[in-house]
Formats: sequence, C-alpha cells, structure tokens
Amino acid sequence: MEEMRLQKYLAMAGVASRRASEQIITDGRVSVNGEKITELGTKVCDGDEVCLDGMPVVLEDKKFYIMLNKPVGYVTTVSDEQGRPTVMDLLGDVNARVYPVGRLDFNTEGLLLLTNDGDFTYKITHPKHKLDKTYEVWVTGNAKPNALRMLETGVYIDGKKTAPAKADIIDASQNSAILSITIHEGRNRQVRKMCQAVGFKVMGLKRVSEGGLILGNLPIGKWRHLNPNEVKLILKNAQSK
Ligand code: URA
Repeated sequence: MEEMRLQKYLAMAGVASRRASEQIITDGRVSVNGEKITELGTKVCDGDEVCLDGMPVVLEDKKFYIMLNKPVGYVTTVSDEQGRPTVMDLLGDVNARVYPVGRLDFNTEGLLLLTNDGDFTYKITHPKHKLDKTYEVWVTGNAKPNALRMLETGVYIDGKKTAPAKADIIDASQNSAILSITIHEGRNRQVRKMCQAVGFKVMGLKRVSEGGLILGNLPIGKWRHLNPNEVKLILKNAQSK
C-alpha cells in the first residue's frame, strides 16, 4: 500500500465516504498505531494500524472493475502534464484506486474499463489475446469504392498492414455515414488511421463494445461497476483466442 490520507484509507476500506470519514476523524474516533488522530492531513502507509472506535480497520484487497462512458475531451491517464481533464476526474465517488485498462484518444468517446486488478489489465490488453473492440465511426469524404473491403482485409498504417477487421455501414446519407468497425489490435489511433487510409474523414469515434461487454445506454461521463458475469465474460473472451 502506498502512503495515503487517513480519510481516503477509511473510504477505501468501506467505512464511509471520504467526506463522512473526515467527520469521523475530527470526531476523534480514529487512532493510528494507538494514537488518537483528529488531523485531516494525516497519512498512513503499510504497517500502520488504523482503528475506528478501537476496532481495527483493514484495507481489503478487493478488486474493482468499472465501465466508464468516456466523453470527448478527457485524457486516459491518471494525471496529465498539460493539466487537461483526465478520466479520473469522472470517478470522484469510486472508493478505490483504479486506473484505465488500455486507452482511448482525447477525442474518442465511449467504453473504457478501469480496475485495480493488474492481472486483469494484463489479460485484457495483451496483444496475443486479440480481444475484439467495436467502434462506431462518423465519417464524411470521398472514400474509395471498395473502402469497407479494404478495411476488412487490411490497410497499411505507419508502414505495417492492419490485421483483418470487420467493417459495416450502420447508416449512410449522401455526404456522411456511420460505420461499425471491429478490430482486435490496439495500435496508436488505429481506427482513425485506417479510415484515413481509405479516404474517409473521421468526424467522431466512439467505442461501443470490448471483449463482449456492451456500453449500452450508460450516460456519457458516467460509470458503473461490472457485474461478476461481465468480468467472467471478458476474461473468457480474452482466453479463447
Ligand atoms: N482507434 C483510434 O483511432 N482511437 C481510439 O481512441 C481507439 C481506437
């Protein structure tokens, strides 16, 4: 366990929200290594014994699996050198130290998983597991006539051919279309570059599913816990390739 503020420790241990934990501390109900603590800035680290009303409060090694509907305009990192909003800003009420599983571009929205389970992250993101990810892409431009077939068989981006993909038209008008593209690689800005390679201009990009999990109607900017069946499903899909 890294060093953390006492109120965060209490919140992560499920005692109460961070705000309520602050009150519990200032009420003098908490001790660290036998010493009553009422100071909110107090930090605790591995080996410290935290008690509430004289009873030990233990940080459970509980795993969290979260699905976020990432909005455009957020970076998929825990902190950003340029001070841009990060996806962590949307998780204020998650009482666990989760981090993103893979990434979505600043201008991409949709399904992003977060967890505190390193083993899960490894399985989901390792290229050998070839987990399918489906994107809805709003495009304009004069694409080549066989653009979808080209996307499916592979196009060259950054000097390397993409693996076979699935590409369909969801909706089309005279000047624009919505495509569904499923890939299992995770190269940098891959879908944007694939579309560009066949003459599309990408106006918007949204991930709608990953490894069998569906974004569904989760509102933009909101998160939810995965249920145990969803965790099982995505792990199974990661193993079966
Ligand atoms: N492909 C992209 O181009 N961007 C993403 O964020 C994800 C896939």
